[in-house]
Amino acid sequence: MKPVKVLIIAGARPNFMKIAPIMHAMRKSSKLEPILVHTGQHYDVKMSDTFFDELNIPRPDISLEVGSDTHARQVAKIMERFEPVCDEQKPQAILVVGDVNSTMACSIVAAKKEIKIIHVEAGIRSRDRSMPEEINRMVTDAITDILMPPSRDAVDNLLAEGHAPEKIHLVGNIMIDTLLESKDRINKSEILKTLNLQAGNFVSLTLHRPSNVDNIDNFRKILAALEIIQQELPIVFPIHPRTRKMISEFGLEDYVVSMKNLILTDPLGYFDFGKLISASRFVLTDSGGIQEETTIYGIPCITLRENTERPVTVWEGTNELAGCDTETIIALARQILDGNWKKGRIPELWDGAAAGRIISILEEVL
Ligand code: UD1
Repeated sequence: MKPVKVLIIAGARPNFMKIAPIMHAMRKSSKLEPILVHTGQHYDVKMSDTFFDELNIPRPDISLEVGSDTHARQVAKIMERFEPVCDEQKPQAILVVGDVNSTMACSIVAAKKEIKIIHVEAGIRSRDRSMPEEINRMVTDAITDILMPPSRDAVDNLLAEGHAPEKIHLVGNIMIDTLLESKDRINKSEILKTLNLQAGNFVSLTLHRPSNVDNIDNFRKILAALEIIQQELPIVFPIHPRTRKMISEFGLEDYVVSMKNLILTDPLGYFDFGKLISASRFVLTDSGGIQEETTIYGIPCITLRENTERPVTVWEGTNELAGCDTETIIALARQILDGNWKKGRIPELWDGAAAGRIISILEEVL
C-alpha cells in the first residue's frame, strides 16, 4: 500500500523542537510519508536555521518564505502560499504543532480542502484572548480532526469545548522528547565558559510577549525588577528580535545598558540555551515552552505573565506566575534566593516517548 502523505508544518522557533522528533519517527514508518513545509514565519539563522542543523531536521521540502508582517497580512500570506502546495501535493493530512500564526493559517487552508488536520499540543488554554496564540489555539482546535493534547488538563479543555472523545489522543509533551534526546549535547555546551558564568550563580531571562514588550508601562515595570535582581546575581538575557526592536523604539537602550549585571546576548541555539537554563539559579520568562523545560530541569521559574496555558507547570512543576508587577517579581526572586521554593515533579507522559505514541496513533487512524 502507498504510504499516507502528511505535510508537516513548521513556521517559528518554538515549532522546530516539536517537529524534530516527529519527523525522525515518521521517516522510519513505512505507512507514513512526511513532507516538511517551512512557512518562513521565522527566517533568521539564529531563529530558524540553527535549530535545523542542531536537531538534525531535514531541509524543508517546501519553503513559503513569508517573513514578518502584521498578523493579518502574515496569516493571509501563509494561506495564499500554502493553498497551491496542498493542490500540488494532495496530502491526506497535515500535521501542525503549537500555537503560532503558521499553525492556524495552514489549518484553515487544509480544513477548506477537506484535508485531515492533526494538531500536536492541542487543548492548552490560557483563557486570555488578548494573547494572539490563544486565538490560534482556539481556531486550530475547532477545525482539527485528530487532537493530540500534551496533558490531562488539555484533554479536559477539549471535552468541555464539545470535542468528541474519540478525536482526542493524550500523547504527552513532544518538546520533552527533544530535550531528553539532547541531554548529552546540552551538557557539553560551552556557553557558561563563553559568557564567564558559574553554574547556579546567575539568572536567565527571556522576554518577547507583545503584552510585556510592546507596552512601555509593562516593559518598564519588568525592567525595574531586573534592576534590583541584577544587583544580587548576573542576569543573562538572550534577546528576541521583537524585544530588541521595542527597546530601541521606546528609547530604553540607556536604561538597559546602565544595568551592569544584565548580560545581553543574541538568541542562542538549542543546546546552549538548554545549558543556560539548566545551570541557572532561576529563570525569568514569558515564554510558554520554557515554563515546561524548567520543570523538567527542576529549576525555579518565575513567569512574567498573569496566566498560563500550561498550568501543570505550576501545579506540579517549578513554575509560579508573577505578571509584570515589579514588587511581585522581586518578592518571588527573594523567595528563591532564600531557598524557599517548591521542588516540583515531572508531569505524566513527559517521558521522551511522545513521538512514538503519535506515530502509532497516526498509523492506526489515518
Ligand atoms: C512568534 C509567535 C510566538 C512565539 C514566538 C517565539 C505568533 C503569533 N507568535 O512571536 O507564539 O512564542 O514566535 O519566538 O505566531 N523577527 C526577526 N527575525 C525572525 C523572525 C522575526 O527579526 O526570524 C522580528 C521581526 O521584526 C518581527 C518580530 O521579530 O516583526 C516579531 O516576529 P513574529 O514572528 O511576528 O512574532 P514573534 O514575536 O516572534
